[in-house]
Amino acid sequence: MIYTILVTLLAAALHIIPAPQQVTPGEGSFQIKSQTTVSCADAPEIADMLACKLSEATGYQIRSARSGGRIMLTLNSKLALGCEGYRLVVTPKGVSMVASEKAGLFYAMQTFLQLLPPEVESTSGAKRAEWTAPCVEITDAPRFRWRGLMLDACRHFISVEDVKRYIDVMASCKLNVLHWHLTDDQGWRIEIKKYPRLTEVGAWRKDFDGAVDGGYYSQDEIRDVVKYAAERHVTIVPEIEVPGHEVAAICSYPELSCEGVQVNPSYTWGVRNVVLCPGNEKVFEFLEDVFDEVTGLFPGEWVHIGGDECMKDKWEVCPKCQARIEAEGFVTDSLHTAEERLQSYTIRRVEKMLARHGKRVIGWDEILEGGLSGEAGVMSWRGEKGGIAAARMHHYVVMTPSHEGLYFDSYQGDNKVEPIGFGRYITLEKVYGYDPVPAVLAGEGLGEYVLGVQGNVWTEYIYDTWHRDYRIFPRAFALAEIAWSAPEKKDWDSFRARVDDACMRLDERGVNYHIPLPEQPGGSCDNLVFTDSVVVAFKTTRPVRMVYTLDGSEPTASSAAYEKPIVCREDTDIRIRSVMPYGKMSSVRTVKVRKQELAPAVEAPAEPGFSFKKTYGRFLSTSELAGATEWEESRISSLEEMGEQEPKTNTMQDVRFYGAVAEGYINIPEDGVWRFSSLCDEVWVDGKLLIDNGTDVKRYSRHDAEAALKAGYHSIKVVFLSNIIGGWPSARNKTTISYIHTL
Ligand code: ACM
Ligand code: ZN
Repeated sequence: MIYTILVTLLAAALHIIPAPQQVTPGEGSFQIKSQTTVSCADAPEIADMLACKLSEATGYQIRSARSGGRIMLTLNSKLALGCEGYRLVVTPKGVSMVASEKAGLFYAMQTFLQLLPPEVESTSGAKRAEWTAPCVEITDAPRFRWRGLMLDACRHFISVEDVKRYIDVMASCKLNVLHWHLTDDQGWRIEIKKYPRLTEVGAWRKDFDGAVDGGYYSQDEIRDVVKYAAERHVTIVPEIEVPGHEVAAICSYPELSCEGVQVNPSYTWGVRNVVLCPGNEKVFEFLEDVFDEVTGLFPGEWVHIGGDECMKDKWEVCPKCQARIEAEGFVTDSLHTAEERLQSYTIRRVEKMLARHGKRVIGWDEILEGGLSGEAGVMSWRGEKGGIAAARMHHYVVMTPSHEGLYFDSYQGDNKVEPIGFGRYITLEKVYGYDPVPAVLAGEGLGEYVLGVQGNVWTEYIYDTWHRDYRIFPRAFALAEIAWSAPEKKDWDSFRARVDDACMRLDERGVNYHIPLPEQPGGSCDNLVFTDSVVVAFKTTRPVRMVYTLDGSEPTASSAAYEKPIVCREDTDIRIRSVMPYGKMSSVRTVKVRKQELAPAVEAPAEPGFSFKKTYGRFLSTSELAGATEWEESRISSLEEMGEQEPKTNTMQDVRFYGAVAEGYINIPEDGVWRFSSLCDEVWVDGKLLIDNGTDVKRYSRHDAEAALKAGYHSIKVVFLSNIIGGWPSARNKTTISYIHTL
């Protein structure tokens, strides 16, 4: 017991992520000197890589040789630790890494690098006088074969340079599958020589504001990235979506859809009913050609063929699809509709195409609908249900359930203070708590069908590298540990200590990450009001020190530490931020706390409802309304009517955009402080601008504000712009305002 505790403590002190199988502490340390040599007879490329990295970081000229190095890497086929396992022994005299295969040696090297100070990840050289690694013996091997990260390059393009950065960090924490989402409604990202319009047309989308967004990878770039990944023992699994999420392909070649009409790449998020037509044999010829080229570029075993969220209403009325349904004898029964069987038919045909290239298919869990084909693997994203069902049919599954913690586009903290995100609330601790083998499968002895686990980075609300890094890290480190380490090695407190070190390494690499922000229990708000006094409390999603000032100055690491709730009796600006143990600080939150008298109520209005005026046009900010001359005036009975979309269509293609102003009264039920929240552009109460959402993406409200109000009627003015900012149509929001009585 005491030994186990010691080992856990030591593993924490050693900061290795993912936690190795067995760690035996030694005495003393090994020091890298200017004349240190790395040697390896069997995998000189790994010795070269290590020597090169150590040289860059230390500024020494570390040599790589075939034999005789003080850091020695050896392949030994007798080592029974699987193809990725290894032994690493560090003594004051030298470092030995042994594995039965090159992947194991590569991972031994990654563990050794984590024993060295974080500056080893620097490329600028000589930031330290001494480079030591503590003496230790480590025996290690992974729990799962598939340790994946999915990057969606379609909603917002990801540069080759960024993809390589992610491969570097993945390799450092022993993630080994990069699932590259390359085709979707908003962009086709892979050059296909036989169909040049896929990238000439389908890779470029015109957003609402007229800006063109896009990009694609040439086949040379893809070969380069695949090689780069292979050198780091990362396999790339390409995803080509079939039969839904295909708008970008259909824009390029309209004959691929049931209706054959010209469409544009989507500039909003969400699914469309413009999908491939499996009644048309030409669609299968197209897929055959595309997969011919794709399989030539990606040497891995698996190809992801999507299969998710395919709307089938066009199939129901398409003569070609219905003819195929009849010819194949598909009928709707209690299990599946005929159209679901048509989807399954499509996936089966694609599976056969890929089998001819020696590939296996994997798809999202919708591929179970209509009957699971051949030997397809299933990626379980709508919870674990699909994965469990597939494993029971003896199909391989990769667990990536969205709400359980594996969707990294979700918030890691309170959405009122975090940069805009997709939704959901998935903290680092939640990711860490996930076990990829559901208890029912373990109980039924079917755990072996769980190939592994994956984190998905959808990029609808990820607009640039800063956001992408921020969403991925440090959650990818928790993913790495649940993917590699044995469940009995999992220890949240030890992981928390180690993750700080991993983040320091990200700083050296210039990679951004999430730092828990000060949040208010019960819901954060930057604009607080009180009548006598107010107590303002803060917390963070995991224990992190917070510092603050009350004099308007920028808080620094040595400002007052937040220890207990702050009592305000006069107007105060609380400026607060988090400080990591190694000194890095979060952004600053400024919480304005203002004393107010209760604003008096006014007479009951003569008429119920709101005066309403509307002007058509594409407005991105409320200031543009000043130039509008043609207004339609009417009355509406509820604010909800402000945001009516004309016509109601998911595609937003022929929607009439407009700006609108509603004015009227709200009846406040009792005296007190009321917190207002709205996704409209502006909210004015008693003639004062209370909420100004500016040009933010109007997906989650981030500018809530309070007002002290007497019971009774108060004037309200709401300004709403029907537009699309950051891919989100504001008409999808409820245009009501909410106001709650604060305690
Ligand atoms: C998915 O999130 N549509 C797989
Ligand atoms: Zn059709």
